[in-house]
Amino acid sequence: MADTLKIAPSILSADFSRLGAEVEAIDNAGCDYIHIDVMDGHFVPNLTFGPPVIKCIRASTKKVFDVHLMINPAQPFLQDYADAGADIITVHAEADPHLDRSLQFIQSLGKKAGVSLNPHTHESVIEYVIDKVDLILVMSVNPGFGGQSFIESQLEKIRRIRSMIGDRAIDLEVDGGVNTDTIKAVVDAGANVIVAGSAVFKGDDYVKTIGALRTAAGA
Ligand code: DX5
Ligand code: ZN
Repeated sequence: MADTLKIAPSILSADFSRLGAEVEAIDNAGCDYIHIDVMDGHFVPNLTFGPPVIKCIRASTKKVFDVHLMINPAQPFLQDYADAGADIITVHAEADPHLDRSLQFIQSLGKKAGVSLNPHTHESVIEYVIDKVDLILVMSVNPGFGGQSFIESQLEKIRRIRSMIGDRAIDLEVDGGVNTDTIKAVVDAGANVIVAGSAVFKGDDYVKTIGALRTAAGA
């Protein structure tokens, strides 16, 4: 899995006063996806940004915009995120009573559809929608903030979801507390897309911080 590893820096940990330049810098440093954390102060206890900001930074890179919606409800805003330039739109299973409908709608917009699970959520919620998802996002912290510690119990969930995916072309992404100490276990459990906020943005040299993650993962 490590040879196809994708690194998705979370711009939650970037310098918001120069967001466009930060996005360009992680692009030039060789990231794969740009992970964009949208928070509403309701589903999660923090607020970030919405479609207008995403639209502004769209001009700074051609890389995949991996938009993680931590908002409830998400359904009324999916079109706005698609129009703003999202490539992947991920909704939380816990925030959507009509998950199947939202996933179909995202795909009908020509975007990739993702579903995210909080740490306490059982992977069985994916069972009946797995053929409608392009990405599964396992939260390895309780969403809302960067810089939290990795929750070890999620390794078993990652293994189980990798086995559920089988030979389907679905990305298995892990988000929260992933750094050079934890990345290998996450990749060994079956993840192929790694979100890293504080681990990438902790220094000024993003080539170095992204490279250190790939090295630690065994890529
Ligand atoms: C948490 C966000 C994460 C967060 C990761 O709610 O979804 O993407 O930014 O930050 P780190 O890598 O610092 O745990
Ligand atoms: Zn995220």
